[in-house]
Parts: sequence; structure tokens; C-alpha cells
Amino acid sequence: MINETKPVEALTEPEAKAELERLAAEIARHDEAYHRQDAPIIADAAYDALKRRNLAIEERFPHLKLAESPSEKVGAPVAEGFGKITHRVPMLSLDNAFSDEDVRDFVHAIYRFLGQLPDNSIALTAEPKIDGLSMSIRYEDGRLVSAATRGDGTTGENVTANVRTISEIPNTLPEGAPSVVEVRGEVYMAKEDFLALNARMAAEGKQTYVNPRNTAAGSLRQLDASVTASRKLRFFAYSWGEMSEMPADTQHGMIEVFAAWGFPVNPLTKRLGSIEALIDHYNEIGLARADLPYDIDGVVYKVDRLDLQERLGFRSRSPRWAIAHKFPAEKASTRLTAIDIQVGRTGALTPVARLEPITVGGVVVTNATLHNAEEIERLGVRIGDMVQIQRAGDVIPQVLGVVSSPEDAVQFEFPKICPCDLKTPVIREETAGGVEGVIRRCSGEFACPFQRKEHLKHFVSRKAFDIDGLGEKQIEFFYDDSLLPIRQPADIFTLKARDEANGLQRLKNREGYGETSAQKLFDAIDAARTVALDRLIFSLGIRHVGEQTAKTLARAYGTWDAVHEAALAIASGDTAAIDEMDALDDIGPAVVEAIGRFFGEKHNIEMVDRLTGQLTILEAEKPAQDSPVAGLTVVFTGSLEKMTREEAKAMAERLGAKVAGSVSKKTDILVAGPGAGSKLTKAQELGVRTMDEDGWFELVG
Ligand code: IVH
Repeated sequence: MINETKPVEALTEPEAKAELERLAAEIARHDEAYHRQDAPIIADAAYDALKRRNLAIEERFPHLKLAESPSEKVGAPVAEGFGKITHRVPMLSLDNAFSDEDVRDFVHAIYRFLGQLPDNSIALTAEPKIDGLSMSIRYEDGRLVSAATRGDGTTGENVTANVRTISEIPNTLPEGAPSVVEVRGEVYMAKEDFLALNARMAAEGKQTYVNPRNTAAGSLRQLDASVTASRKLRFFAYSWGEMSEMPADTQHGMIEVFAAWGFPVNPLTKRLGSIEALIDHYNEIGLARADLPYDIDGVVYKVDRLDLQERLGFRSRSPRWAIAHKFPAEKASTRLTAIDIQVGRTGALTPVARLEPITVGGVVVTNATLHNAEEIERLGVRIGDMVQIQRAGDVIPQVLGVVSSPEDAVQFEFPKICPCDLKTPVIREETAGGVEGVIRRCSGEFACPFQRKEHLKHFVSRKAFDIDGLGEKQIEFFYDDSLLPIRQPADIFTLKARDEANGLQRLKNREGYGETSAQKLFDAIDAARTVALDRLIFSLGIRHVGEQTAKTLARAYGTWDAVHEAALAIASGDTAAIDEMDALDDIGPAVVEAIGRFFGEKHNIEMVDRLTGQLTILEAEKPAQDSPVAGLTVVFTGSLEKMTREEAKAMAERLGAKVAGSVSKKTDILVAGPGAGSKLTKAQELGVRTMDEDGWFELVG
């Protein structure tokens, strides 16, 4: 079941996909342990083996590579982690402006805040927003004593030893500098150095890096500072933290001081007096962007006078006196070589464009999403076309349109059969209005290797089986577990018996479990063997069959046998069975169709049979036919004092009433507790019969 030891060459495609997900999760767990908790859990060699296996699978199945692939991450060898440094002055982030209009709003808000008229111009500085990572470097009595990353803004990583290797950052300040100085700015890697490093990595047969920013971050994370030293990191100073005394009273004055102390400062920094001048400078920098030796992603404007900065102050995470004017997404043209179908966790089929690798803003792009079949049609793209793509920040690149189309370009046919191993038909659902939806799904549900885990999580969720100690996290744990795998619902109920057969490797002896917790889990599973019919129906995760629909079905059919029989009959096209279900209140053709489809798949039938063989399914309480509220629609509003809202609803339903959430012409009774508001007014307007809680109890006896 688990592929850990299966050679990469022997993996089937679904196995490879599952394995890539498992490896990504496992590597992320180790990265987290190493980077954040300073507590690595495996040896370097074992970690490297995981990364190598991940890479080998990606090489064999390049199209399965995850967007968040561990091979894209610039990692550090597993060893001891970094210490933490708490920033004396928090490191905040910046608000973003995406249009000239946003910039005007930003400046006008400053004028309003300060109570000055717009013509009474306030100078701002404008400088490129460097795409690197921010750093706070502390000097005491002129000597560099510590350097920390931003971290969460309050606490960062202590990377002092590494920062000392950055030759552009002075280790001492000149005579006369204040006794405490914290210089802040951006550590980055120049495009040229990034490309040279990648060429070196490739020549050595090593994994190359994604972009200069990640590489700079990864290079700083090296525990061996000599590796950092070999990476040619650079720095721009643009801000400060704690200062025992201020050497200047303006932003640009501070930048001049930093330059005099020996820090690199950005040459494109300007002090400007009007909104138009800011926007002109932004456009100029935008034009120069591609030719700059480093990546930037916008222009930062800051109020120049520090006394005004102080008066303006901060919102929760960003200053009122500064904003980042971002550049629009970057675009490029490349050839679309293939369109593959990816199956998502809920079975949605997404077409993905495979592209001839192209660098967009320093990132090598090889895939882009095409969303759905309609999008492919709308764009008119065919395989072999030159297409324009766009990458906005870290989001998945998109295809914008066709640039040129060769004669031999091939039309893409959306598959009718899911690429998952099951060869199940692809279905396209109708939306409420009977219009065909754009999403195509694999109808494999529980059996589809891509959907199984998600279905299991739904199966154990609160409104379904709700087993104490078996939630999403535990499904993740057991799903890929080699000793006690849970791959379908019935596996949950055989867990104890399978555990008992495991000899020494019992659950109680495993990490995260003990005697008591293992026993508690088995007890909770046993308790869940007796289940209400509606919960069972809901837990199957059949599309369109939510909690309410499951209740309606349970009440209408009464027993599991009756539901099962009806579902199988519907699947076989029995019109009487279809009409019978369709006639139920609140149940429309989409539900009937989804049920028929679900029970039309052999693997679903088997899965359900295996599951129900483990359960005692309670009969649904038949709603009273003779109660005074049978068939009526009731709305509860205001606060109820004698029963909870849930109880009130259950009671009304038991008595054969339908409970609605809002008042309409169809409402027969409104039960209004104290504090009832608009629903009561509306009921009175419509002449709906209204009563309080006591009245309700009197009525139903
Ligand atoms: S000023 C209190 N200036 O952008 C404001 N930040 O989105 C301090 N950044 O965390 C930041 N270039 O890492 C400032 N010229 C620049 C910048 C800059 C890049 C980064 C910085 C910050 C992020 C906010």
C-alpha cells in the first residue's frame, strides 16, 4: 500500500502522485522541525534521501510536480537551527497600491490626517521595492552585534554569522555614530549572481534555484556561514529600528547618513513634491526595471519628514506614512507544448498548460493553469501555439491568449474518461438553473485515488461519523500508514482488529499514541458503529447530498435497506424509483442524478457494502402524520428559552413540520422568542400565524 520502498521506476502514475504529496508533507514536516523548532527529527542523510526520491519521481513524471514542490524550495541541510531575536522595534510591512488612483488616495489620506490642504505639498521619497528579504542589523558602540530576519515582525531568526559574510554590510560604523543603531534594509541576490550560481549548480548536476529572492533567503539560512559567503549576497539600506539618537530628521537625510556610514543605498531614490512626480518616477522605474541588475516588484513612497511620519503613525501592521506601489503582473510569450489534466481533491478536472520553460521576473515558468474547457475555448488555444502568459506574485501563472498559431497546432479534446486509474466517466454537473456547469469531475468519488483522502475526511467530520480522536489530522496519519492504513471507510472499523494482529508494532507503542489514547480511539470507533441513518447517508459524501437532503431521504425511506434499494434502482434507470425520489420535498433532479451516478459505480457499491457490513444502522424516526403541525412550514426566531434552536428544529421535524430559515408567503407558523426582529415584522405584514414558545408547546401538546 505504501510506496516508500517501491522503486521509482515501478511506480504507477497515481502512486507517483500520491507519493509526491506524501514526500512534500514529510519534507515540510522536517523543514518545519529544523527551521522553526530548532529540533530536527531525522539525520541529514535520511532527509537527503527523501529529497532525492522526490526529485527522481518528479523527473520521471514532470507533469505531476506539485506547485509547492520541495525541490523548488531552497533548503538548508538538516542540522541545528537558528536562535531567535526579538525586535526592539517591530518590523512592519507595507500596504499596497495597485493603481495611480490608489496612490492619490494614499496621499490625500495623509493630507486629511494631518489637516493640510493638498496644495500645501508634503514631500515624499520614492525608491524601488527590492524583491529580497528584509534584515535588521544592530550595532552597539559602532560594532555589528546581531542581525535578524523579519520573521513574524516581532521575532526573527538570528543570522548574525551569515550577515557578517556579506561584504556590502559594514562590520563597524564610523566614529561618532550613535551608540545603538539598527539599520534595516533588503538582502538580495543580483540577477547576474543568481544566473551564475544556477549555471554552477547545473554543471555539478545539482538542483537549480527558482528565483533570486528564494535563493537569497536560502543562502542566508545556511548554517555553515562559509556557504553564505560563497553566495554573493548584497544589501540596500532603507529603514531603521532602534536608534539611541537620530542622526537626521528626514527619510532622505537618514539614507544619506547610511550611505556615509558605508551602506549601499538605492541610487533610484528620489525626494518628490507632488503625486504626479511620484507617478512619473514610478513609470520611469518601471521602464528601467528589466535592465536593473536586481529584481524589484514596485516603488515605495514614504513621507519624508520624520516628525510627520511620527504624527501619522501606524495601522495594525503597516505605517500610514508609506505605501508600496506594485508593478502589474509580468508577461511573457512561450510555446504551449501540451495540455494535461490534473484531478483535484474534490475530483475537479483542471487543464494545465505545459510550456516551454521561460523566465518571467526571474522565475522559470513551465506550467500555467487553463481553468476549464470553456477557458480553452475562450482563449482559442491549441497545442503548439505561442501563448502569452502572466505571473502575478506567487500565484499560478495564467495563459492570457494566443500570440501565433502554427498550421500544425492541435485542437485539445477534453477527456471523457478521468485520467485516474479507474477510467471513470467525467461528469459535468448542472447548476441550479439547469445550465451545465464549467467544472468536470471524476465520478470515482471514494475510489478515485485523488479524491479518497478528502472523502475520508468528510466521512469522519462532525456532522458525519464524528469519531472522537479521528479527525483530519489522523486521516492524514493513517492514510499513508504502512501498519494500519485507512484507505476507505470500512478500514476505520477494522482498525482495532488489524492492530491486534500487529504484534509488537501496536498503535499504543507508536509515536503520538499511548495505551490510553489508543484504547480511547478504538472505543470511540466502536461507539460510532451504531449510526443514525441520515448521518450515514450524509457521510457518503455523494455530491449534492448535504445534511438536510440526507435527513429528508432518511425520513422518507425509513431504513437503510430501503434507501439502498432505491439508490440501486435509480442507478439502473428504474423510472418509478427515480420519480419517487424526485417527488420528495426539497429533492431535485440533481440529487437524484448524483445518487444514481454514485450507486452506478461498482467500486462505490463495494465500498458502501463493506462499510455497512460493519455498522448497526438505526431506523429513521417516521415523522408523525397526525401531529397538529404535520406538513406545515415553521420558522423559529428570537432567543428560545426552553429549548435550543437545534432541539426546536429536531422537535418540529419529528412532528412532521418543515423548518425554514426565513419568513415567506409559504411560512405557516412563526415561533418568536424575546428579541425577535425583522422576521417577526415580516410575518405580521404577511399575516403569518405567530406565537411565542409557550404557544408552540401548547399547540404541539
Ligand atoms: S520600507 C515600515 N522600503 O517590502 C516600513 N521596504 O512589503 C518598512 N521592501 O518587509 C519597509 N524594498 O522587506 C521598505 N525600499 C523599501 C523596500 C521595502 C523592499 C520590502 C521589505 C518589507 C516589504 C513590505
